[in-house]
Amino acid sequence: MEHLIIHWCLVCFLLLLSTASSVSGSASGDEYRGGAGLDGTIAVSSVGRPRFCFDIFYLPPNLSSIPSHPELGAETRLTDGKSVNYNGQFVGDSEKQIILELWAKKEKEINLGAKSIFLAYVSERGGLGQVYFDILDWEDDQSRRQRRTVALLDTHEPAYAFQDRPTVAGGRVIYVGMRNRLSSIGRSWTAVYSRNVSTGETRILTPEDAADFSPAVSPSGEWVIVASDQCRGFHGELCNLNSDLYILKAADGSNRRLLLKDGGWPSWASDSRFFFHRRADDGWWSIYEAHLPQHSADPILGAKRITKGGFHAFTPAASRTGEWLAAATRRPGSKHRHIEILNLTSGEWYELTKPSVNASHYNPFVSPDSAQVGYHRCRCAENASFEDWSRDARDEGAHNLERLKSVVGLPKISLVRIDGDFPSFSPDGSVIAFNSDLNSGRKDVSIMPLDGSWREEVFNASKFVKNPHSSEGCLHLGKPFGTAWSIMEEDKWILYSSIGENIFMTMDATVHVIAIYCNATNLKKKAAGKKLKPGEEIYINYDVLTLPNTKNNAFPSPSPDGKKLVFRSSRSGYSNLYIMEIGMDAVNKKVVNKNVYQLTNGSWTDTMCTWSPDGKWIAFTSNRDNPGSLSFAIYVIRFNGSEHEPAKKVLDDAVHPQFSPDSQSLLFTTNYGGLSAEPISTPNQFQPYGEIYLSDLTGQQVQRLTFSPYETGVAAWGKLRAENLSSAGEADNNCKFSDSMWLEGGTKEAEFCLPSKILEKRHPKSNCTTDGPEEQECQARTLTIQQVLSESQPLKEKQSCWAQQ
Ligand SMILES: *[C@@H]1O[C@H](CO)[C@@H](O)[C@H](O)[C@H]1NC(C)=O
Ligand SMILES: *[C@@H]1O[C@H](CO)[C@@H](O)[C@H](O)[C@H]1NC(C)=O
Ligand SMILES: *[C@@H]1O[C@H](CO)[C@@H](O)[C@H](O)[C@H]1NC(C)=O
Ligand SMILES: *[C@@H]1O[C@H](CO)[C@@H](O)[C@H](O)[C@H]1NC(C)=O
Ligand SMILES: *[C@@H]1O[C@H](CO)[C@@H](O)[C@H](O)[C@H]1NC(C)=O
Ligand SMILES: *[C@@H]1O[C@H](CO)[C@@H](O)[C@H](O)[C@H]1NC(C)=O
Ligand SMILES: *[C@@H]1O[C@H](CO)[C@@H](O)[C@H](O)[C@H]1NC(C)=O
Ligand SMILES: *[C@@H]1O[C@H](CO)[C@@H](O)[C@H](O)[C@H]1NC(C)=O
Ligand SMILES: *[C@@H]1O[C@H](CO)[C@@H](O)[C@H](O)[C@H]1NC(C)=O
Ligand SMILES: *[C@@H]1O[C@H](CO)[C@@H](O)[C@H](O)[C@H]1NC(C)=O
Ligand SMILES: *[C@@H]1O[C@H](CO)[C@@H](O)[C@H](O)[C@H]1NC(C)=O
Repeated sequence: MEHLIIHWCLVCFLLLLSTASSVSGSASGDEYRGGAGLDGTIAVSSVGRPRFCFDIFYLPPNLSSIPSHPELGAETRLTDGKSVNYNGQFVGDSEKQIILELWAKKEKEINLGAKSIFLAYVSERGGLGQVYFDILDWEDDQSRRQRRTVALLDTHEPAYAFQDRPTVAGGRVIYVGMRNRLSSIGRSWTAVYSRNVSTGETRILTPEDAADFSPAVSPSGEWVIVASDQCRGFHGELCNLNSDLYILKAADGSNRRLLLKDGGWPSWASDSRFFFHRRADDGWWSIYEAHLPQHSADPILGAKRITKGGFHAFTPAASRTGEWLAAATRRPGSKHRHIEILNLTSGEWYELTKPSVNASHYNPFVSPDSAQVGYHRCRCAENASFEDWSRDARDEGAHNLERLKSVVGLPKISLVRIDGDFPSFSPDGSVIAFNSDLNSGRKDVSIMPLDGSWREEVFNASKFVKNPHSSEGCLHLGKPFGTAWSIMEEDKWILYSSIGENIFMTMDATVHVIAIYCNATNLKKKAAGKKLKPGEEIYINYDVLTLPNTKNNAFPSPSPDGKKLVFRSSRSGYSNLYIMEIGMDAVNKKVVNKNVYQLTNGSWTDTMCTWSPDGKWIAFTSNRDNPGSLSFAIYVIRFNGSEHEPAKKVLDDAVHPQFSPDSQSLLFTTNYGGLSAEPISTPNQFQPYGEIYLSDLTGQQVQRLTFSPYETGVAAWGKLRAENLSSAGEADNNCKFSDSMWLEGGTKEAEFCLPSKILEKRHPKSNCTTDGPEEQECQARTLTIQQVLSESQPLKEKQSCWAQQ
């Protein structure tokens, strides 16, 4: 079992978490408000996200008709070319007035040019996903091109986070927002909202117990179809959300009914016909068509598969002409997804985006007049050429540090995303150490100052072929993994890390704990913004601390006095925690491994250990309650003098604990909030449910900090606040991320999707789907749409999943 987890986690942050069992877990759902100690900087990582550089582009659906659209050029970029912008929808002519009103509320009125495009989309420019509208207008002769951008919500409003698939219809904006679900662990926080833009009146359309995704609004603006987990909660669906389609009223969420089981990403062609995707029994993601009947005597619908397989086709966007649809496809042999058009009459596909462009194109959408197909892709993808709408945009690329907003107000905390993995803060809080993104191919321990204005390798494992200190001769210098700081002497700081081949692969792998010595004078000088003179180096040298034949040693974390090191080792045949007593070799000016003793002992896995800054606690992750399983929880061990108390569980289904600088709070990574989007709608996320939470040391009070469709994990907490972040970064690496690897099928799929199968087996479905409701869902199929739609149902304040019960 360990082999499986480990292999899978080679390229990701978290260990796999279990689910549903946590509903009765120790986190009580009380919100953690913390105290004065909630100060400083919290740095987090999100898989691939610094490389996304998404912008929204469009093309006419029939490329040979481009000459008739000379003013548009070929591929045209619509969004700003700076932020991460995605999941667009065109705003129809009849709805434009609403956006102009919204604009007029905040700015002065506009004299629109002769031509205009209005776009609704998600942008992360403010540090958290938010709905924005761009009003683009120009004159017939292409002069006076202008872009005006207005946000839907003010930052203090609820649901100010990841507002997916925004659609303006019937005078409303329908979008996916966040809602607080701390009290029901294992349930997604996504809900569909409906907002009257004129009044600001906003309703949650999703019942209390359900989570809804990917809303599609009917052309009339009256109905919404959503992909819903209904009452099921999260069951480890890492690849396929296993959602069902529900229909409800756009105004207030009433008349909610099951349309069909197993479907996602709905898209309407007309008020009675829609498309959706589903993974077919033959394994290919496929597009299906369904009809709402015209006559009340007709059966509700029959879903018909319209793509044949042989390649994946998903995220459909129907044209209102009813003649064609756009979809993303992944064809065998390609590592990228492209947008293709399916002629619904002839059944033929034709390419919209060029397969020769080495970039993935995501989540197409069609303009109401069916004249344009939009989508998003990384803007600096290799060899892609496009008409730059604003011409003056300067790509700011990936930043070393990017400011994030937490979903709760933590006024004294600076939350940042780091372009790298495994951050840790220097003893004075002024420097962040990290490992470069795995996609970068680097084998480094690097550092950056708190404003992210530069990054520099301290340790480059590629330079060492052989480790002179190791009796094992040629040490497998794989990628360094993890960082933790300690002060050896005033001018000599140590960066602990672990290094070896396949750190996460097997317990038998050779992985060593290393100490990298840094010159603190030079490091602080550089961090203060001063230039180092030749000869003023930061890196001094390194040592291997663990002995030969001690197998897989990782996650070193020093005690605050630097005299001990806790780490996990598989030397006994199981991964347990060990403590190394550190001695000083004054002659050779280095630290030595004086003695190692075992701290925890059991036939299970203890890992991801960290020592609190006050020295009184060690927090770690373990599956000891369920040895051999994928169910990991956070434990703490308290030290009183030289003794320690037995390990105590504080948080179920949680990994990567890190202490606050005052040792009073724990940061951790968990799946308490389930998924925030259909996994197929984003680039590869190994564990898209990973988000950062905060708790007290008892685990009784918790608070969510991040909300995104990404895998966010492995946070660190420093005592100084990061301010005035620089936009410096490694722009060269932009667009170097992977599309969903599991779409390649075969072993890739087994590797990335298998854990969900394990989870499904392990967790019985919740009560929601085992009794009546399941029956009721089946019966719903035999109702007519007229019956379904006319059965009026007042919206209860707290509408439950099963309004009829
Ligand atoms: C595309 O448009 C051209 C010219 O308008 C037309 O001749 C051609 O049949 C169209 N092709 C498709 C695949 O619709
Ligand atoms: C929005 O609210 C205004 C004022 O109450 C109302 O006149 C309008 O009809 C509402 N729009 C929609 C789409 O409900
Ligand atoms: C679809 O195919 C039919 C039959 O080949 C053709 O007549 C029609 O023009 C095509 N439509 C589009 C939009 O390409
Ligand atoms: C895209 O990538 C493939 C495989 O890496 C390569 O052979 C091809 O030349 C690339 N195409 C472009 C246009 O760069
Ligand atoms: C772009 O792609 C074309 C072929 O599609 C190739 O000939 C050309 O060298 C590529 N240019 C760059 C800069 O990669
Ligand atoms: C790390 O070392 C390798 C091998 O010597 C070298 O190719 C690479 O450029 C180094 N990286 C940096 C950032 O210096
Ligand atoms: C740090 O670097 C400075 C200047 O290069 C040097 O004088 C000092 O001895 C170095 N300290 C250590 C511990 O290497
Ligand atoms: C670990 O536990 C095993 C089984 O109980 C025992 O035989 C062994 O001596 C223990 N090791 C240590 C270091 O306590
Ligand atoms: C420290 O903890 C140990 C183990 O729980 C306990 O036996 C001992 O009494 C404690 N000592 C103090 C001073 O609290
Ligand atoms: C950040 O910028 C503000 C305003 O320019 C300045 O007052 C403050 O000192 C800066 N903080 C740091 C840490 O540089
Ligand atoms: C399911 O219902 C039973 C009996 O009412 C209850 O004991 C159990 O806790 C419920 N399980 C969940 C996961 O809600």
